[in-house]
Amino acid sequence: MERPGGELLFCTSSAKHLARRIGLKAGRLVLRRFSDGEVYCRVEEDVRGRSVWVVASTQPPGDNVLELAFLLDSLTRGGAEVNLLITYFAYARQDRVVKEGEALSSKVICDMLKRFQLNQIFVVHIHSSRIRKFLSYRDIVPTDLFSPVIRRADIVAAPDKGALGLATGVSERYGKALAYMEKSRPGAEEVEMVRLVGEVEGRRVVVVDDMISTGGTVIKASELLMDSGAKEVSVVATHGVFSGNAVEDLERSRIKAVYVTNSIRPHRESKLLKTVDLSKLLARVVSGESRA
Ligand code: R5P
Repeated sequence: MERPGGELLFCTSSAKHLARRIGLKAGRLVLRRFSDGEVYCRVEEDVRGRSVWVVASTQPPGDNVLELAFLLDSLTRGGAEVNLLITYFAYARQDRVVKEGEALSSKVICDMLKRFQLNQIFVVHIHSSRIRKFLSYRDIVPTDLFSPVIRRADIVAAPDKGALGLATGVSERYGKALAYMEKSRPGAEEVEMVRLVGEVEGRRVVVVDDMISTGGTVIKASELLMDSGAKEVSVVATHGVFSGNAVEDLERSRIKAVYVTNSIRPHRESKLLKTVDLSKLLARVVSGESRA
């Protein structure tokens, strides 16, 4: 519901699909491209002294990170008090230097955000809490949006150690058994499953993760689970990045269904993929009702 005279909402192009149901009046904003590809941003509101919300998804990262930066610049220089809600935080996986000479890319994004002195920052299910070293934000983990799928399962599985905390929380909350896998990455986007810990024979498994990018992690996890006697494997993940041939690869896999939210604009229809809408939860966050 709109609050007359209340906070204004500004969405980057990548988050427009969420705007309608967030319940704030949309601020007038021009975001377009010059013929050379440069981003142009102009806020057409007097925002001085006003509290505003910016909702952005930074996927794909290139232009969407720039749109976000320019929008924040425009609003803060215009005197607005800016609250930021990022539905997908790009570069969060580059949160440490593994090989000498690598950029600490997630810190660069955080430093960029910090220069705007924002009122508060919310992020939907950020990849790793390591980012807290670089930025103060509140994390919104929307796993309960998948509760019908989780309830139907017999056991919750983490596809790697990084997802173990999430899977443990879900298994405790829903009173389900827990399994986990150990994964290795022989190459940057290659996945191998090393071992499965937990009894999945004859059970319906739900794999939980923060995101699906190439699909390699959940596909390899599902193979190990099915080879270990699982009855069926479904997957829930907050962010459907679906890079490269991910959707085709998932369709060819033994996964029964894949559930993601629309934190990233859904870009392809597929019978396997089910998208759960995030906007009501975001509406509760901006209204202050849900600061999960
Ligand atoms: C890894 O640590 C993440 O939580 C995801 O498991 C991973 O990023 C998914 O990537 P992909 O779908 O390319 O395996």
